[in-house]
Amino acid sequence: MSSLLIRNIGMLATPEGAQARRGAQQRAVRVLENAWIYTENGEIISYGSGTPPITMGDKLDADGRLVTPGLVDAHTHLIFGGWRQNELAMKIRNVPYLEILAAGGGILSTVKATRAATEEELAAKASAALDEMLSFGTTTCEAKSGYGLNKSEEIKQLRAIKRLNREHPMDVVSTFMGAHALPPEYKDDREGYLRLLCEEMIPAAAKANLARFCDVFCETGVFTAEESRRILETGKEYGLIPKIHADEIDAIGGSVLAGEIGAVSAEHLIVCPDEGISAMAAGGTIACLLPATSFYLNSTYAPARKMIEAGVPVALASDFNPGSCPCLNLQLVMNLACLKYRMTPEEVLTGVTLNAAAAIGMADRVGSIDRAKQADLVIWDAPDLNYLCYRLGSNLARTVIKKGVVQHG
Ligand code: NIG
Ligand code: FE
Repeated sequence: MSSLLIRNIGMLATPEGAQARRGAQQRAVRVLENAWIYTENGEIISYGSGTPPITMGDKLDADGRLVTPGLVDAHTHLIFGGWRQNELAMKIRNVPYLEILAAGGGILSTVKATRAATEEELAAKASAALDEMLSFGTTTCEAKSGYGLNKSEEIKQLRAIKRLNREHPMDVVSTFMGAHALPPEYKDDREGYLRLLCEEMIPAAAKANLARFCDVFCETGVFTAEESRRILETGKEYGLIPKIHADEIDAIGGSVLAGEIGAVSAEHLIVCPDEGISAMAAGGTIACLLPATSFYLNSTYAPARKMIEAGVPVALASDFNPGSCPCLNLQLVMNLACLKYRMTPEEVLTGVTLNAAAAIGMADRVGSIDRAKQADLVIWDAPDLNYLCYRLGSNLARTVIKKGVVQHG
């Protein structure tokens, strides 16, 4: 049996429970001072404040620092070939994201590079990104396919995700996103690609047990709300839980659809209309907000406060991808959520832990410091939660613990 006692914790801060927190509950974070946590075989056994009643096993001194649950990144496009630094010059000249995509650049240039790489190459590259994520305090993440855009290439991406989940300490949850763009082969045959998605790609991904979720880019020039509905309903028939990239650039009905079909989460929501917020509240959909993408696209910011007030649980994620957000640092996401969404540090903590875990079906195992959950924890170079959200541009993750084992620091 392996055990670990973390003692001398200046502040322990965590949301509680195994379900997404909404409204005022999102900021109801448990705070303990002068605290300790005891873990055995990768699980949290007990925690409290004062002198720990346990003396055996390995010990880690937190030296009066802040400890939180490991961060959960609920939205990444982790698996891709190449990068897109050549787009920076276009961004500086203000060429819009959708214009770059329509000209065969953007997502489609990453599709070329991803198709040219082997499964092993993609996994090795993503493994390095996972190392970096761990070093910033992320202990669980989601990963989407979506740069293959045909059956074998999407399966190749999903297999790389499965391999990483097995071989890397990070828990990696898989999402099928064959509906990320219209592939060049089908640019004059939308119906043909929709049929390929619904009749071959979704069934193949589901039957091989390679994905838990199905996601669609519902956007002007990509997939309409009706096409998105068809794809997500088909995914549901095959047991894939719906997610949707909605209202990122144009509000074309994505958030309303998310609520109507009971999507577990809707992503982006930068220009989410009031009717989308009501639909998500009614449908129990989590708003997965990606403030670093707003920053990188030079766009406006999602109406997070309105969502919290309407009772929609808000999760926060990186959107790590080679185009609209080449950033995997959730600490920066936390800073931006405070400053741009006007979320409090407590709301932000719930957004990057428990609500993010709920958005990827992991809230029974990770996302909070609760008995019997995985011992995924971060000791921060910070005395309290305000400090973690206030400092900008440093990496404050001092010790990152995954399933009771120190992975970084
Ligand atoms: O979430 N919006 C669509 N997909 C990604 C961008 C992917 C890319 O540009 O390669 C996003 O922002
Ligand atoms: Fe995305």
